[in-house]
Amino acid sequence: MYDLMGRTILITGASSGIGMAMAKLFSREGARLILCARRMDRLMLLAEELRAAHGTDMIALGLDVRDRRQVERAFQVELPQSFRAIDVLINNAGLSRGLDPLQKGSEDDWEEMIQTNISGLLHVTRQVVPTMLSRGRGDVVNIGSTSSHEVYPGGAVYCATKHAVDALTRGLRMDLVATPLRVTQISPGMVDTEFSLVRFHGDHDRAANVYAGMTPLSPEDVADAAMYALTRPPHVQVGEIVLWPTAQAASTLVARHQVLEESVPPDESTWRNFYELKE
Ligand SMILES: NC(=O)c1ccc[n+]([C@@H]2O[C@H](COP(=O)([O-])OP(=O)(O)OC[C@H]3O[C@@H](n4cnc5c(N)ncnc54)[C@H](OP(=O)(O)O)[C@@H]3O)[C@@H](O)[C@H]2O)c1
Repeated sequence: MYDLMGRTILITGASSGIGMAMAKLFSREGARLILCARRMDRLMLLAEELRAAHGTDMIALGLDVRDRRQVERAFQVELPQSFRAIDVLINNAGLSRGLDPLQKGSEDDWEEMIQTNISGLLHVTRQVVPTMLSRGRGDVVNIGSTSSHEVYPGGAVYCATKHAVDALTRGLRMDLVATPLRVTQISPGMVDTEFSLVRFHGDHDRAANVYAGMTPLSPEDVADAAMYALTRPPHVQVGEIVLWPTAQAASTLVARHQVLEESVPPDESTWRNFYELKE
């Protein structure tokens, strides 16, 4: 009964990973889509695929969420009228850069993370939520992380941005409490996407090492969690879903297959800090 049929869903960061998996799932469920990202070529290919598979009504918006003026123009000028009644906003665009200790960190990397993960989410939310309020309905889904609740060595700035996403999610829920709008956060642990490739500036070997010997979440697992939240009845507001891979119990506690095979039953040596593999 509470399905996605005909609902207009805006996804930031739809050109890859979790955002792309959501676009595919929601398209299959009959939603109308607004796909946003900087890489328009990828969005066009995705749009073509989904139109052919499900006849999805959708639009691709080339958008850098860091650029406030560009975001304002996109929503106030470029978005066709027929796509302005947005039912669901998925704030997914985000990235990590680098894994250096804070004292050696790159200020450019920090700025990019802060501008994308915090300012970008705010810019889009500021444009979309008032239109939801004027229509008396809407869902905001922020993609947080287990890093919204934990920190790990070398990840201070990324974790700070995801802690900020958590604060913004909870604050927005408070600000909207007297309205029918719902605010949800999905907080995954390790997910196999382009995330690590972006973190390590395109270093494929280093990125592959992050997932070596364990089964991470798939982007489809995260899309499935969002689907659960969005299909609850209107009086149910899913606050947060935290998703861990079974082989991960903390940011720095990951069981690797080859280690498990060597030492049964597991003891302390079973566990390796997954960032040890970066060297
Ligand atoms: N993978 C994980 O282990 C993991 C775990 C927890 C949380 N997360 C969160 O999940 C979200 C999605 O990441 P992912 O894992 O799917 O990584 P991904 O495959 O690298 O996808 C990131 C998406 O964000 C978009 N993006 C980045 N900067 C942008 C900008 N300035 N403007 C617009 N779009 C931008 C990218 O599109 P363009 O480059 O085309 O713009 C891409 O579509 C992020 O918020 C991330 O922090 C990931």
